[in-house]
Amino acid sequence: MNQIVEPTGAARCQGYQLSKQRNAPDPELTQVGPGTPCGEYLRRYWHPVALAEDVGEVPYKLRILGEDVILFRERGGRYGLVHQRCPHRLASLEYGTCEDRGIRCCYHGWLFDVDGTLLETPGQPEEVGSKLRESVQLGAYPVREYKGLIFAYMGPPEKIPPFPIYDAFDIPGMTLMPYKAPFHCNWLQVLDAILDPIHTSFLHSRISRVQFTEALGELGVLGFAERGMQIVGTNTRRVNDNVWIRVNELILPNFTQAGAAFATDGTKVRYFGRSSFTRWVVPIDDENSWAIAWACFGERGDPPQWMTREGCELIEQGELFDRTYEEKQRHPGDAEATEGMGRITVHADEHLAPSDRGIAVMRQRMRKAVRDLVAGKEPPQPTAPAGQTIRSLGGDTVIHAPARKGGDDEAFLKEIGKKVLDIQMAGDARSDAERDDWVIAELKAYEKQLAVAQ
Ligand code: FES
Ligand SMILES: [Fe+2]
Repeated sequence: MNQIVEPTGAARCQGYQLSKQRNAPDPELTQVGPGTPCGEYLRRYWHPVALAEDVGEVPYKLRILGEDVILFRERGGRYGLVHQRCPHRLASLEYGTCEDRGIRCCYHGWLFDVDGTLLETPGQPEEVGSKLRESVQLGAYPVREYKGLIFAYMGPPEKIPPFPIYDAFDIPGMTLMPYKAPFHCNWLQVLDAILDPIHTSFLHSRISRVQFTEALGELGVLGFAERGMQIVGTNTRRVNDNVWIRVNELILPNFTQAGAAFATDGTKVRYFGRSSFTRWVVPIDDENSWAIAWACFGERGDPPQWMTREGCELIEQGELFDRTYEEKQRHPGDAEATEGMGRITVHADEHLAPSDRGIAVMRQRMRKAVRDLVAGKEPPQPTAPAGQTIRSLGGDTVIHAPARKGGDDEAFLKEIGKKVLDIQMAGDARSDAERDDWVIAELKAYEKQLAVAQ
């Protein structure tokens, strides 16, 4: 007969002891407002802040990096991103009107250009108006629309970097669908998931339900690489006689790409398939974030039948956004996993394990960049080969490579995962026009080489 063992009093009361030892969040990486170390670090980069479709005939109020700002499109077509409050008597410009040129405050009609220049002060004596126009400035940020996303730079004007053009912005045959996903928690815990490839096997497959493909439930062999500002996590899985290498990536501070959501289950060969999304995790404030992205559809992205709003939600979080509490409990997705940690998770309370290596490295790298900036050293910008796009890697390759008889298949998978990533990285030496064909040809040659060695 099984004996029921009662926990001792001491064991039962551990909660009491542990509750007294609560640690605090990590302000160096989680605070994003103006003047905070991480907030200033993030302000050295262009970020998407909204979808073009958010901006209609009336101004659009939003909060980004802890600042309340107004995004508008003048009737002349230019976009502006300005501080919320009119410098006259602080009325909110969300009630302003978008003019042929600039935005006009609703209260007394002052008119501001997209760069914040005060253009008109109706109702004031001309000599006063001209003085005001010289001395008063509305805060404004550079902004640009690109393929349906609105990007802004909110840092010091003299430090503005070139607008980064990644390879993923223009892959032949790929259609990009803009979307955004709200997360009611700090930006860093949303970002963490990209370098946590093993959560795909648990959250998205074994625990919640099969949200993408069943084969993702296989744990696979994890790999990891760093290259400049890029941190890459790979998961190499055996699917019968195939080997499926899924590449997730972060380019610091917040550019993310991942393997396909629905494009492959590892049963068919696929050479240098590209990410299901090209995505940035953008802080709204310390306790709220957006994932703002394009979902990528086509032969090298996800299948076009998912090119709907619901499809984008599933690609982003594994589940639809708007669900009952019970549905979320029964089938949690990324939002539940990350928001459930609390508004700002406490790193000092975590117990990181080997599968969290990418997350640990990411935090170290970010902390160093934040501290360097505090010390006066500007953070690096993503770089591209001369005249070419910035190269990214997120996506999937599936090659035919049966397990070797009597061999150590885990070691074999590891070797293949590393070699495939090496080939993809070596493609950087090629021009944009040649790179993908070269990588695909090299992957096929490697597959043949493995077949000969069998
Ligand atoms: S408060 Fe804006 S014009 Fe007066
Ligand atoms: Fe996820």
